[in-house]
Amino acid sequence: MKTNKSATFPSNFHLDRQNSQPLYRQLYQSFRDAITQGVLRPGERIPSIRNLSSELGLARGTIETAIAILTAEGYLLTNGQAGTTVAPSLIPQTATVALQHEAPSAPSLPTAPLLFQMGVPALDAFPRKLWARLGARQLRKMQPVDMSYLDIQGSLSLRKSIASYLSVSRGIRCSAEQIIITAGYSGALDLVSRTLLQQDDSVWLEDPGYPPTKRLLMTRKIKLISVPVDQYGADVATGIALSPDARLAIVSPANQSPLGVSLTLERRIALLEWADREQSWILEDDYDAEFRYDAKPLPALKALDNRQRVLYAGTFSKVLFPALRLGYLVVPPDLLPRLLHTSQMHTPCPSLSQSIVADFMDSGHFSRHIKKMRGLYAIRRQWMIEALNKILPVEFSLLIPKGGMHLSIALPTTYSDRYIADEARKEAISLEPLSRWRSHTEGLPTIIFSFINITSQENAAVMAERLLSLLIKPPALD
Ligand SMILES: Cc1ncc(COP(=O)(O)O)c(C=O)c1O
Repeated sequence: MKTNKSATFPSNFHLDRQNSQPLYRQLYQSFRDAITQGVLRPGERIPSIRNLSSELGLARGTIETAIAILTAEGYLLTNGQAGTTVAPSLIPQTATVALQHEAPSAPSLPTAPLLFQMGVPALDAFPRKLWARLGARQLRKMQPVDMSYLDIQGSLSLRKSIASYLSVSRGIRCSAEQIIITAGYSGALDLVSRTLLQQDDSVWLEDPGYPPTKRLLMTRKIKLISVPVDQYGADVATGIALSPDARLAIVSPANQSPLGVSLTLERRIALLEWADREQSWILEDDYDAEFRYDAKPLPALKALDNRQRVLYAGTFSKVLFPALRLGYLVVPPDLLPRLLHTSQMHTPCPSLSQSIVADFMDSGHFSRHIKKMRGLYAIRRQWMIEALNKILPVEFSLLIPKGGMHLSIALPTTYSDRYIADEARKEAISLEPLSRWRSHTEGLPTIIFSFINITSQENAAVMAERLLSLLIKPPALD
């Protein structure tokens, strides 16, 4: 096998034998900094254990431990005889850090997923070869007519595939004519807010809730009404008491983001009755309902919408992959002309991706893929739960929702989840502080993290240790 570049020894390694941190951690940290800052480039070979040992005057075991953690965390790749290299898919995070200073309110997402980063599906398990085959098939089939402007609502064949998927999986009966293809949930929210909302309108938002929804509405000068979420989902009665005439309620009923609770049937009915009474709208954000581990996913709120007050937003970001930027809205028929009027002249979604997704769905791969991912996530989730249960101190509580792609850890009241998340970010680790998802509600400081990229039971043990070390890291002295 051809080796990449020659082994490099970064000059900025600082090992301090007086430091209370063990040497293997210091070495690990130095390597990580060199990788995340781009001093060591993706694909670059690192010196052998023997060379490192003589160069740094460290025991082989110390080096092996550091390298094992870096490999388990995905920073390094061991290639047998060919040596150890920096993982080729890693992208240095320096640019991300710089951007964050410019736009603190909208944290930039790195292009390569960080450790524990929420919301990214298992990209390692995506059937890329199959996808490429379907892509080639769609390109070969392309006729001149397919190269013109697309239907403003998006590809009809994709809309038909979505309509039949929704009737089987989410209990929604709708026709392809009621569907608009959007650039993900973000595109759907943008379209809905531009069509239905005017400055100073009130909108109910779940608290805690998905920060990008709030950010987008804030740019529109909308009055945001914080509706607390408890174990039964969004507290509809409080929403009604606070703002009975809100124009829109945005909810995630299947798997509330981020608490993972489901909206009870009683509250679903109360919400639908309120919308009907006030002639208000409900936007259902059904972003990852497919991933439920204890039972079949609950039907969507839209399945109960006899009065046609619900706009249902689905996305391919979790069930396929986020770079697709594809999602859809199922809308009440009466509202369709208004939404289409607001849309730009043509769909913003490229036709090739729409036809590949339609092909993927029609040939049965979509439901197989979801089933496979649900099984895989259940295993990865269990590995992480077991690993954490072995080491978490009693004062930390592991919170396990019934579905979704993340877990949470509630911390003692004296901890700051934001501080922990900020410190973790410096090490290119993505932990979400629940307090940042809150508007007015209060609760224990809590860290939210994804388990999706855990690759084995051994990896889970290393990752759990890594997580714990971040949680119990003492605050920096000023
Ligand atoms: C609550 C919630 N809604 C929607 C989405 C998906 O957004 P998009 O389809 O724009 O990628 C996410 C992604 O993380 C999410 O967490």
